[in-house]
Amino acid sequence: MTRISLSLAAAGLMSATLAQAGEVEVLHWWTSGGEAKAAAELKASMQKKGHSWKDFAVAGGGGDSAMTVLKSRVVSGNAPAAAQIKGPSIQEWAREGVLANMDDVAKAEKWDELLPKAIADGLKYKGNYVAAPVNVHRVNWLWANPEAFKKAGAKLPTTWDEFFVAAEALKKAGIIPVAHGGQNWQDFTTFESVALGVGGADFYKKALVQLDAGSLKSPTMEKVLGTFKKVKTYTDKNAPGRDWNLATAMVIKGEAGMQLMGDWAKGEFIAAGKVPGKDFACVAAPGTAKSYTYNVDSFALFKLKDPANQKAQQDLAAAIMSTDFQEVFNLNKGSIPVRLGMKLDKFDDCAKTSAADFVSTAKAGSLVPSIAHGMAVPSAAEGAIKDVVSQFWNDDKMTSASAMDKLVAAAKTK
Ligand code: BGC
Repeated sequence: MTRISLSLAAAGLMSATLAQAGEVEVLHWWTSGGEAKAAAELKASMQKKGHSWKDFAVAGGGGDSAMTVLKSRVVSGNAPAAAQIKGPSIQEWAREGVLANMDDVAKAEKWDELLPKAIADGLKYKGNYVAAPVNVHRVNWLWANPEAFKKAGAKLPTTWDEFFVAAEALKKAGIIPVAHGGQNWQDFTTFESVALGVGGADFYKKALVQLDAGSLKSPTMEKVLGTFKKVKTYTDKNAPGRDWNLATAMVIKGEAGMQLMGDWAKGEFIAAGKVPGKDFACVAAPGTAKSYTYNVDSFALFKLKDPANQKAQQDLAAAIMSTDFQEVFNLNKGSIPVRLGMKLDKFDDCAKTSAADFVSTAKAGSLVPSIAHGMAVPSAAEGAIKDVVSQFWNDDKMTSASAMDKLVAAAKTK
């Protein structure tokens, strides 16, 4: 081939690629250090395919603000290509008729074989895939600073009694025992770990997943509420309103001894150059070593009109489930791959424990969805029970009896 025909061929190839290149606008709330590094990997994988990435980041841990912004965008007929939506909310959005059918991608990429069935079912509406999953986060973790524990002569707790012994020792050593961010999703993240540790997985399921009135108002729930409120006495006065990653930073710096938080907190430790097992410790939240609260991040795909953007959206869905992406993303995010059969050689011990416990708790029946992170309860009831729990946390005059009555009422919110 001559030089000219070669360059003509190259030009032809380029225009073919350009013709297919589209834009993906992606709504997410990954703005902390570790989260942003993970999100950058998704952006890079799309750019590698020649598509352009329009970042639609709405700051605010747990995603409450992001969901508000998303609603107004969809209502005004201007949905993004993809939005971070999880659990029952996927079904709520699909019922509105605004989500795209991703079955072609899912079939070509064999998603049914690569995902645990329970997770795949949640990503489908009327049997069709409408969302693509990126990871599995474990929520019932306790993060600790080993130096702070050493200074206090404290030992990593495995039960709630031991937790309070350690908290007391940290306090005496002049260290804030518990780093907490007083926002309602963070209050509930603590609450659900206490409920799981104090009440066990069966109680958790009955009370917080099935929203059974007899469990929401019960001696066990009273004990849960009492323990939860006791945790508050070991937080500092600046906790109200604090972002979760700033609470993690307190543990990283040794200003605080521990934080109850999902493993996106590990993303912060890693982004700060800290080494698991040396600079920080991950242990199951007290009393929950044999249970697992899961939180699967996924992207719901919205109906689009432009064919090039539709192609970019399908490429995004395929990229999300690829082995390369599942590895690099989750190494940064603190979570584990949701895709089955992945090698975990590059992952640390926290991730390996999470992966092993995910499997063993699924077998034992103690793998439960995180309520704080939108995995089980319809959004209206979830919001209402979160409000009650935060009110109880913040109002020292509110009794457990009144909190339980309010929980029973909140659970009926439609
Ligand atoms: C999400 C995580 C995120 C965390 C804090 C959770 O609901 O699942 O991906 O890192 O909120 O923003």
